[in-house]
Amino acid sequence: MPVNLNGRSLLTLRDFTPDEIRYLINLSMDLKAKKRSGIHGNTLEGKNIVLIFEKASTRTRCAFEVAAYDEGGNVTFLTNSQMGVKESIEDTARVLGRYYDGIEFRGYRQETVDNLARHAGVPVWNGLTDLYHPTQILADLMTMQEQLKKPFQNMKLCFVGDARNNMGNSLMIGAAKMGMKFTSIAPPSLFPSEDIVNYARQVATETGAVIEVTDEIGVGVKGSDAVYTDVWASLGEEDKFAERIALLQPYQVNNALMNKTGNPETLFMHCLPSFHDTNTQIGITVKEKHDLDSMEVTDGVFRSRNSVVYDQAENRMHTIKAVMVATCGKL
Ligand code: CP
Ligand code: NVA
Repeated sequence: MPVNLNGRSLLTLRDFTPDEIRYLINLSMDLKAKKRSGIHGNTLEGKNIVLIFEKASTRTRCAFEVAAYDEGGNVTFLTNSQMGVKESIEDTARVLGRYYDGIEFRGYRQETVDNLARHAGVPVWNGLTDLYHPTQILADLMTMQEQLKKPFQNMKLCFVGDARNNMGNSLMIGAAKMGMKFTSIAPPSLFPSEDIVNYARQVATETGAVIEVTDEIGVGVKGSDAVYTDVWASLGEEDKFAERIALLQPYQVNNALMNKTGNPETLFMHCLPSFHDTNTQIGITVKEKHDLDSMEVTDGVFRSRNSVVYDQAENRMHTIKAVMVATCGKL
């Protein structure tokens, strides 16, 4: 069956088959090659897209805007709207669905983006919620495919840190869909929820994936093709840094941890933004209070030749473009 994603929303990768995910990655590769050869497209010509942000963003917002412009689309950046304050999600969705051909939402509750999709009548894309970050995973899978040049079924990925955050959850689902070996490595209080692990293991029975959860770093990282980490306190959890530092300091991605993979070529991955130095407001505060120069990853690993973080960031744009083109563009 040829893949056709026209009219579909991207709320979580749970809703997408391995073939559909592969299709989006291949389309992203084509769009990346097209942009690199300087070709501007028109697949989003005449399309209006609204970007709703409750939380801060650099990559996601800019990726949606540039991707839309590259293909001839128009965008509205919407923050501080009536949604959820003076107007229900349903009413907002019904109105925006009459103006726009696609809606991106970044915010707190997964229910909000699900609700928008239920009522908008146009595709809705999840640009990050507390629970999931699906467009990021498409970029990460694309980056792994480019860098590792082998089938997903032969790749091992581990996620170290706050394994129950949106990135830990979504990577586990993406890895399960693509038949990868995936290990969450975290202190037990930050293990992913049973719901996510059971779902991923059920998908794994069909795809051949292996899904593990452990608090033992050495066991978890051994043989990994890629080590992934993320901030220790996500957007909206800024009051939790002290608690997380106490829990997660042993899980910092540093040279010793990378060496435990046994593979000098293991990729280092991070969705960004990252606290790998003290050149941020939060980094300065953490240095003053906890005497730490970095949190989830050392500056050395972040800047090492194994690090593909900027390739991931670039691929956000190509994959987000693919999602918009496939779901509301003229292909
Ligand atoms: N990775 C990511 O989503 O980055 P932003 O928060 O800058 O959008
Ligand atoms: N877990 C992070 C991801 C940022 C892209 C957060 O939600 O802040």
